[in-house]
Amino acid sequence: MAEEEVKFKVTIDGIPVDVAPGTTILNAARQIGGDIVPPAMCYYSKLEGSGGKCRTCLVKVSKGSEKDPRPMPKLVASCRTTVMDGMEVQNITSPDVLEARKGVVEMLLINHPLDCPICDQAGECKLQDLSYEHGVADTRYEFERRTFERIDIGDKIQLHMNRCILCYRCVYVANQLTEGREHGVIHRGDHSEISTFIENALDSDFIGNVIDVCPVGALTDKTFRFKNRVWFTKPVDAHRDCPTCSGKVTLWYKGEEVLRVTGRKDEYNEVEDFICNTCRFDTKQTSDWVLEEPTPVEKESVITANHYAEFNPPPVIKENPALQVANAEQLARTEKLK
Ligand code: SF4
Ligand code: FES
Repeated sequence: MAEEEVKFKVTIDGIPVDVAPGTTILNAARQIGGDIVPPAMCYYSKLEGSGGKCRTCLVKVSKGSEKDPRPMPKLVASCRTTVMDGMEVQNITSPDVLEARKGVVEMLLINHPLDCPICDQAGECKLQDLSYEHGVADTRYEFERRTFERIDIGDKIQLHMNRCILCYRCVYVANQLTEGREHGVIHRGDHSEISTFIENALDSDFIGNVIDVCPVGALTDKTFRFKNRVWFTKPVDAHRDCPTCSGKVTLWYKGEEVLRVTGRKDEYNEVEDFICNTCRFDTKQTSDWVLEEPTPVEKESVITANHYAEFNPPPVIKENPALQVANAEQLARTEKLK
């Protein structure tokens, strides 16, 4: 007889879920889904070792476990903390977490330029979303921001280090998807920056994926740069018989022209399959592809411009008075957008 699978019971913002031992709090929350899932700027489920860098996913553990119910003394990074049986976690129900998240966003924005109007990532930038949800209108930072020259990584990718939040995702892509290590973070602390061995980067078939994993506009596709705003394009899922990768992509159309090709992304903005450079950069004719269907886009995204479904308060908040109090600001914004 098959052994019964052991499961840990965890409660996140009052919602119980049974998960396998070893699951992180973040992934337990993703199994519940909806608004109680902490934001993650550096964790990427497809990249081993990612997470623990940005601190946007902080949560409060108000009960450690059934055996040891003491709360954890500090907020913890949910992408790096594994669940215990009987653990109770607070995310959007905890004013401490919401306050800390504001601080993290302020910190991430210390050096990040507010150049969204000219940034190619605008409209699909997770830092933009995070600032909207948790940011404050002013900065207390009085010093000059760090600035860097733009660097070309090969002829198709540009690194604009001013916008980098040092999440390390691109470094993991380079380490895990390409033959040799091509770039990494040099220096430490305030002086940290992404740097490359450009000659090597040119050779790798999968290096284009650094564009898809970058949560901000630091790594951009030079074949798409400044060509259009993302909300004027129409995403369509398509595939081709590719000898190198799965060949499953999203084509971004303006009229009949394919302006760019990306991997298909899930609700957490992670690609489903990493794609090769040939699919991404060199096959931009509709005749190269078998079209499937328009890419489903979350309803709050600007990519659905002019096609908004009715705005509703997120379901979990709607049903729970405690969450309504904790999320008064977010609800007020939602009301305004209606
Ligand atoms: S360039 Fe982008 S993916 Fe790489 S560390 Fe900076 S923010 Fe992260
Ligand atoms: S997502 Fe957890 S620290 Fe960045």
